[in-house]
Amino acid sequence: MKILVINGPNLNFLGIREPEIYGKQTYKDLCNLILDYCSKKDITVEIFQSNHEGDIVDKIQQSYNRFDGIVINPAAYTHTSVAILDALKAVGTPAVEVHISKVNEREKFRQISFIRDYCIKTVVGKGFNGYIEAIDILKNHIK
Ligand code: DQA
Repeated sequence: MKILVINGPNLNFLGIREPEIYGKQTYKDLCNLILDYCSKKDITVEIFQSNHEGDIVDKIQQSYNRFDGIVINPAAYTHTSVAILDALKAVGTPAVEVHISKVNEREKFRQISFIRDYCIKTVVGKGFNGYIEAIDILKNHIK
């Protein structure tokens, strides 16, 4: 099984940005957690982060027919981007949406997700472990 993990804007600042919301662990810690878990489960993984909407769209397009599943935290673009939704629909790869924080308990605008309808599941408010849960969801969905 081969999966792509996509992280949107400001997630490279994990550990620095609003630690009371996102925790003190860094983006590198998140990548290591995902890499370790995937290597234990014999999953091939590529991790991508960008602060730019178009780069995320490009990455999704380039992933066409190359991955069995996508784990995506579009960060702020969750609440604004029809382009990311359309890219996911275009490639048709099963995807799971992840948010580190409890977006459902935060500002109203964070409760809107353009990609939610496309994704097979959304994992919210589980911290970094949400990514592991998302990988497991994909694993069960694909097998
Ligand atoms: C986030 C929630 C978004 O509202 C926010 O813009 C982020 C991170 C999360 O993981 O909790 O950057 O996607």
